[in-house]
Amino acid sequence: MASALDSSQIVLAPIVASREVGEQAWVIDVEISGIADSLRPGQFAMLSLSENSPTVIARPFSVYDRPEPNVFTFLVQKMGKGTAALVEAPIGTMLRCLLPLGNGFDVAAADEDVVMVAGGVGSAPFLMYAQQRIALGASENTHMFFGGRTQQHLFDHKSFDELSLPTYYSTDDGSHGFKGNVIACLAAELDKKRISSKSTFVACGPEGLLHAFADFARLRNLTAFLSLETYMGCGFGVCNSCPVPTSVEGKFSDWPYATTCSQGPVFSLADIQI
Ligand SMILES: Cc1cc2nc3c(=O)[nH]c(=O)nc-3n(C[C@H](O)[C@H](O)[C@H](O)COP(=O)(O)OP(=O)(O)OC[C@H]3O[C@@H](n4cnc5c(N)ncnc54)[C@H](O)[C@@H]3O)c2cc1C
Ligand code: FES
Repeated sequence: MASALDSSQIVLAPIVASREVGEQAWVIDVEISGIADSLRPGQFAMLSLSENSPTVIARPFSVYDRPEPNVFTFLVQKMGKGTAALVEAPIGTMLRCLLPLGNGFDVAAADEDVVMVAGGVGSAPFLMYAQQRIALGASENTHMFFGGRTQQHLFDHKSFDELSLPTYYSTDDGSHGFKGNVIACLAAELDKKRISSKSTFVACGPEGLLHAFADFARLRNLTAFLSLETYMGCGFGVCNSCPVPTSVEGKFSDWPYATTCSQGPVFSLADIQI
């Protein structure tokens, strides 16, 4: 039987670059060798300092970008001790990295319309998703909805601007783009028929946003896939700290909970209850 760790590796790897990309958020480049070429957007790494880590347990982060085969980029929002240690570490600091982990998004075929819905650092899986769609020749029918509290919370949005996809920004205070949350912005575009409700919708963000998105998607009968940001311990299916309730009609119906780290973090909305 295949295990969640079959293609993953634990490596010690240096931070080689770091740049601030908004309020309390940084993009960090880590030089990591020997990881398989193919990565799916939404796959993640467990990261911690290799020495003097303030947390015993490493923290999960989506792979944000891979500008070179041996350079992995992570978008990190400072929340508590684990993330503070990563964003405050000087260049050259060695990290303990376990990757790649989890089941990422299946990138939709070029002829399908895709709508990406992100809140804050929930944009992290979608830079690679967008790049992979562009490689398929599907930039015109790949839409990005990116919301944050303020313009400063549309972290690293220039990287999305550079892709020249149809992109819709929203901020709670109206400082950039639509004034309101990202779901209200999406609803407005759906109502104007500028976005097809037959698209494949993919979403990632904080728990509140994902719950609201799940309710919205069910109400509108959308085909949706979500990347969950649950708390995690091990990251590879042994500690049982990341359960998500399953739906009785879905593919995990033989057990009341799925394991987010190894069976997700990307789930079809039809398979889970959130
Ligand atoms: C698969 C996956 C991918 C992720 N990708 C990214 C990413 O690309 N970039 C990024 O910045 N973060 C990402 N996260 C979230 C990140 O792992 C947490 O923010 C981090 O673990 C917090 O650690 P900490 O020690 O800094 O904070 P802690 O000290 O553990 O917590 C500080 C505060 O943050 C809250 N918190 C901690 N973890 C979470 C969480 N998962 N959800 C909601 N609130 C939380 C706590 O309740 C507390 O209030 C991801 C999470 C998962 C599961
Ligand atoms: S984090 Fe340990 S089982 Fe998921």
